[in-house]
Amino acid sequence: MTPKVRKAVFPVAGLGTRFLPATKANPKEMLPVVDKPLIQYAAEEAVAAGIDELIFVTGRAKRSIEDHFDKAYELEAELEKNNKAKMLEIIGNILPSHVSCIYIRQAEALGLGHAVLCARPAIGDEPFAVILADDLIDGRPKGCLAQMVEVFTHYNCGVIAVQPVPREDTDKYGIVEVQPIDSRVGKIHSIVEKPKPDVAPSNLAVVGRYILPASIMGILAHTQRGAGGEIQLTDGIATLLTQQQVLAYEFEGIRYDCGSKLGYLEATIDYALRHPELKDQFRGLLKDKLKTLA
Ligand code: G1P
Repeated sequence: MTPKVRKAVFPVAGLGTRFLPATKANPKEMLPVVDKPLIQYAAEEAVAAGIDELIFVTGRAKRSIEDHFDKAYELEAELEKNNKAKMLEIIGNILPSHVSCIYIRQAEALGLGHAVLCARPAIGDEPFAVILADDLIDGRPKGCLAQMVEVFTHYNCGVIAVQPVPREDTDKYGIVEVQPIDSRVGKIHSIVEKPKPDVAPSNLAVVGRYILPASIMGILAHTQRGAGGEIQLTDGIATLLTQQQVLAYEFEGIRYDCGSKLGYLEATIDYALRHPELKDQFRGLLKDKLKTLA
């Protein structure tokens, strides 16, 4: 029987240089889209996929992530005093009570592969998910990770979320070469980190969602530095492919690259247009702005 995916790793130790100075003292994963930080969208997606253990691999200046998922006694007391019941409920229920959080410090930012390896003591021998919170995914009809768990449960092997990107962008992503085996599912033949467009094996890019077997940890422990001088998760997966099948899954939904300013702004607009309290006013505001641009 396919084991259950119960744990998710959130590598959050990156420097977030593309958003400086906003990310000087705050992690990029705490940037809000409308009124929720990116890391909360990611945590909610994990919980909706059946995950009950969130493992954050943190670094310098990441305390606000721990604080965000922790109880905020003073704030709660203040809200209670002022009869702000709705707000109280929002901040009191950031995560359901059956979900636990583990924080592991990545002392040196040696790359995504190294960040995942830091979670090894918390993973043991179970399959696990990896979520990169700056890839915000509005999965339809269900969350991207929940879709992937279904594929994992069916095939019982590693699953990586992918999406086609313009060819000139291949050097921003891990790129896979696949043999289609089912609707949206392909067997990965090769994977390479950030290839130049002229040598990329395809235009199918890895986005920030993975379900991996625990055996990737032993591989990562021996993976040398690759692209950008970093220990790459992609290189670890390339080695895993020599040992077992890994699938690429073209998820249903929209991905926002919130690691880029433009992607972040697009996410903000789309999520504001759907926000129950804001959508009507925001639509009006946007229409007025567009008139001035015409
Ligand atoms: C990382 C991975 C890359 C993947 C990307 C998705 O790159 O190394 O393979 O395609 O996330 O967002 P980064 O964006 O951290 O440079």
